[in-house]
Amino acid sequence: MSKETLKNWQGTIAVMGVDWGDSGKGRLIDDLASNAHVVARWGGGSNTGHTVENSLGKFALHIMPSGIFNKDVICLVGRNVAVDLESLLLEIENLQSAGVTVDNLLIDEQASLTMPWHRMRDGLRESLRENNHSDKIGTTGRGVGPTYADRTERVGLLVGDLLSSDFKEKLKEEVEIQNQFYRLGLDYQEIHRKYAKYARKIKRFIGNTTQVLKKAKENGQNILFEGAQGYFLDIDAGTYPFVTSSNPGIVGIWRCFDFHPSEINEVIGITKAYMTRVGEGPMPTKINGEERKFIVEKGKERGTTTGRERTPGWLDLVLIKAAVDANKINSLAITKLDVLSGLKIIKVCTGYRLQGNPADYLAHDARFLSQAEPVYEDFEGWQEDISSVRRFDDLPKNAKRFIKRVEEYVGIPVKFISVGPKRGEVIYI
Ligand code: IMP
Repeated sequence: MSKETLKNWQGTIAVMGVDWGDSGKGRLIDDLASNAHVVARWGGGSNTGHTVENSLGKFALHIMPSGIFNKDVICLVGRNVAVDLESLLLEIENLQSAGVTVDNLLIDEQASLTMPWHRMRDGLRESLRENNHSDKIGTTGRGVGPTYADRTERVGLLVGDLLSSDFKEKLKEEVEIQNQFYRLGLDYQEIHRKYAKYARKIKRFIGNTTQVLKKAKENGQNILFEGAQGYFLDIDAGTYPFVTSSNPGIVGIWRCFDFHPSEINEVIGITKAYMTRVGEGPMPTKINGEERKFIVEKGKERGTTTGRERTPGWLDLVLIKAAVDANKINSLAITKLDVLSGLKIIKVCTGYRLQGNPADYLAHDARFLSQAEPVYEDFEGWQEDISSVRRFDDLPKNAKRFIKRVEEYVGIPVKFISVGPKRGEVIYI
């Protein structure tokens, strides 16, 4: 993609997290969707939470693509998303009651359904881990891990099964298997009553998303891929086992839509101006004390899905660069820069040490990250309120210095900065 701003983008772009998620993808997608013909969501399930605040209100989306507010944009939920109907139907209800039409939604028939037993198994596994003193993952408890486990085992129900005439039999068989294997005491009749109702509501949204995307590409339409979570939660590339069960990395797009990453014109990596992590797992740049309180409060750092307090950390440029290189990311979007206003010193991590000696980042090694000591560069902060700034040049000089250092270290331009939670409170560079 040429060097013009993202505001008037054309072609195909993808937005993925270069962190542990919760980077503000929802609001960026909501902004970029005004130029899109198709918004296509890959990976994750009801564990992910995208917050969008616009003239219609404030919304917490989990499965629904954040492009849904533009009624002319086709919104696809791809086959590698774990579809939790309880969550999705609630999202649909909330959107409809705010006047958003959701007729433009299409969910892939091949996507796996997250069922009540997946949530039960998720909870059970975590409590057993805790009792046995093995590493708790800190899952969101939404059944996402067990849904993907079943998918890899080639068992479980698909979204398309909701349309089939033998759905009732399939459901019965699955419930019996779950009861036999996991002794969950599931009541088939009750589950069937619920899911027959859900099926009636969701039927009209089911189809083949890959085909729609293929046509959109052939017709030269603008396609926006929306990721979930962040690269360091990737099942293969993340800080295993403290990861989620899908691919927030760019490869997830191919797995979801048969759309090759090389055909994407611009991959945008998104992070906050600091980082956060929720759940267990290492985070070298963790912030403690007063600064933690400041960021958590000002940034409202509580999980959209679980309400848990997120742990804040300084921007870890080593990790961001690793994500950028591995995914061939072309530009960065930095959100919540306004949250840092008022801090005296802002740190960025530009290297690691192990037992006092310089150490290179070891990819997907949770143990390495849990032992790595960050090497920081300190930046003087700024005190001004920046929420009304709309041009990069109008930012305080220390804020500009901070952004410039990020660009210099990572080696790609920052093209989008958010300075407030609402639609339009952004700087396109
Ligand atoms: P699970 O995906 O619910 O199994 O959780 C596995 C790990 O990923 C936990 O540490 C979660 O807190 C984390 N996680 C899952 N989804 C998100 C998200 O959308 N944002 C941030 N962390 C997430």
